[in-house]
Amino acid sequence: MSNSVADFYDQLADDYHLIFGDWQQSVRRQGALLDGIIRREIGAPPLSVLDCTCGIGTQAIGLALHGYTVHATDLSAAAVKRAAREADGFGVSIRTGVADVRKLETQVEGTFDVVISMDNSLPHLLTDDDLAQAARGIATKTRPDGRLIVGMRDYDQALVDKPRSTPPQLVEDANGKHVTFQVWEWQGDEPFYTVNHFILKERDGQWQTAHRTTVYRALRRAELDAALTEAGFRDLQWWMPAESGAYQPILAARRG
Ligand SMILES: C[S@@+](CC[C@H](N)C(=O)[O-])C[C@H]1O[C@@H](n2cnc3c(N)ncnc32)[C@H](O)[C@@H]1O
Repeated sequence: MSNSVADFYDQLADDYHLIFGDWQQSVRRQGALLDGIIRREIGAPPLSVLDCTCGIGTQAIGLALHGYTVHATDLSAAAVKRAAREADGFGVSIRTGVADVRKLETQVEGTFDVVISMDNSLPHLLTDDDLAQAARGIATKTRPDGRLIVGMRDYDQALVDKPRSTPPQLVEDANGKHVTFQVWEWQGDEPFYTVNHFILKERDGQWQTAHRTTVYRALRRAELDAALTEAGFRDLQWWMPAESGAYQPILAARRG
């Protein structure tokens, strides 16, 4: 994988909240949802959590609000920097660092009760080898009997439907109106697609367009299960959105 994923998220970091109708509310909602899963799976805080694809901190901050001790890392230095700033704004303390999920063993110290990777981050790993490295790295950071929680798009279904766009999301704040949406270009029959990510901003009646691209692998649940099982995870369980209330399928797995 080239640096283009880091570049994509570095450039998006200041605007990332615009992807959500109300990002602050999402932080609280996702924190509550993950707190519920962690309590069911392993117990109540204080517990240590590594969010190894934290972005601007959507889930890391949400869990810190529930009393977890959170270490938040990501490939994008700009996203990590914003996560630290946003945590201050929420009045919580999280530890942050830049780390590649494929190199966690050397780039992050210690082990954690829970490791999370939410909102479609692992499908940025385009090859089986990258996925295997990430699974092994995550396993080294999860204490024995600890849990991994992953959230990602329902690619089993997307590979059937082959969607070509996402619905527009309108956010209006003190700066004006913002519209975000994606246009997907599938690579023929291959399980890969280029995301054309658009942010339209209204400023003084004029609309500006920011367009960025990145590539995703439409990762089947069974493919992720196989990589994680190979890396030492057991008791893998998926919840679909109708069961969990989340907007994507969620996986919990125990480190054997
Ligand atoms: C869709 S965003 C989700 C971020 C965050 N979990 C959230 O929901 O706000 C995907 C994140 O995965 C990160 N990412 C992609 N590849 C990575 C890698 N190899 N190592 C660490 N982070 C990576 C990106 O930088 C980005 O922040």
